[in-house]
Amino acid sequence: MQIVILDTPEAVANYGADQFVARLQKKPQAVLGLATGSTPIALYRELIRRYQAGDVSFAQARSFNLDEYLGLDGDHPQSYRHFMNAELFSQIDIDLAHTQVPDGAADDPLAACEAYETAIKNAGLIDLQLLGIGRNGHIGFNEPSSSLASRTRVKTLTPDTVEANKRFFKPDEFQPNLAITMGIGTIMEARHILLLATGESKAEAIREAVEGPVAARCPASILQMHPRATLVLDRAAARGLKDVDFYEYIERENQRLLGG
Ligand code: F6R
Repeated sequence: MQIVILDTPEAVANYGADQFVARLQKKPQAVLGLATGSTPIALYRELIRRYQAGDVSFAQARSFNLDEYLGLDGDHPQSYRHFMNAELFSQIDIDLAHTQVPDGAADDPLAACEAYETAIKNAGLIDLQLLGIGRNGHIGFNEPSSSLASRTRVKTLTPDTVEANKRFFKPDEFQPNLAITMGIGTIMEARHILLLATGESKAEAIREAVEGPVAARCPASILQMHPRATLVLDRAAARGLKDVDFYEYIERENQRLLGG
């Protein structure tokens, strides 16, 4: 795992944007794996800014989102499809027809999960997968105890995750406790995984993911087994790590080798 520790959430977003821009410059038709939640918003704003500045184009890119609430259709303001359209897709030149979010309103969710897996395979797998991390260590909606080999499927959210996401819903609004999510096995097939974490509420999950054992109780710990996983953390999210000095030393060496 590459552990990058930066001073501020803005620096984390910029680093993430650099990775997306570099990938698209090398491979304009790249397949992007995208996430929702609070963490990626600053990154998406930075990507929009760079698109407007003419630094990057998404015209040939395709995208797959990690997850969607089961029971919300794409027009619902709290659906992840709606989030992606509003926060990113409508503000860049990506072809909406080339963006996929699991169908939370599917009549047959199991068939929709299988179709999602097939679509990712047919697209040639994901080149760059963005992840956030839940404070319980989840990635996508793969909650603790999820099979580390799981594929896209319906998952029940933990009460903690429902509570954490309550902030997006109005007090009397229906909030689903089920979701369709890419599986951990699906995520692990991405060629490069980029996990962003900011804020102290993520410090414990990051400690377990980086310095704990690979275990289903912290799904993000599986990234220890990925040949190319980059974790980009602000100081607050890195606070629980024991070996910060070592990770920073490695990064300085990496920069030196790259001539940076
Ligand atoms: C969202 C997702 C989740 C979030 C995680 C962190 O698509 O898959 O795993 O990344 O819950 O959410 P925030 O960024 O809101 O703290």
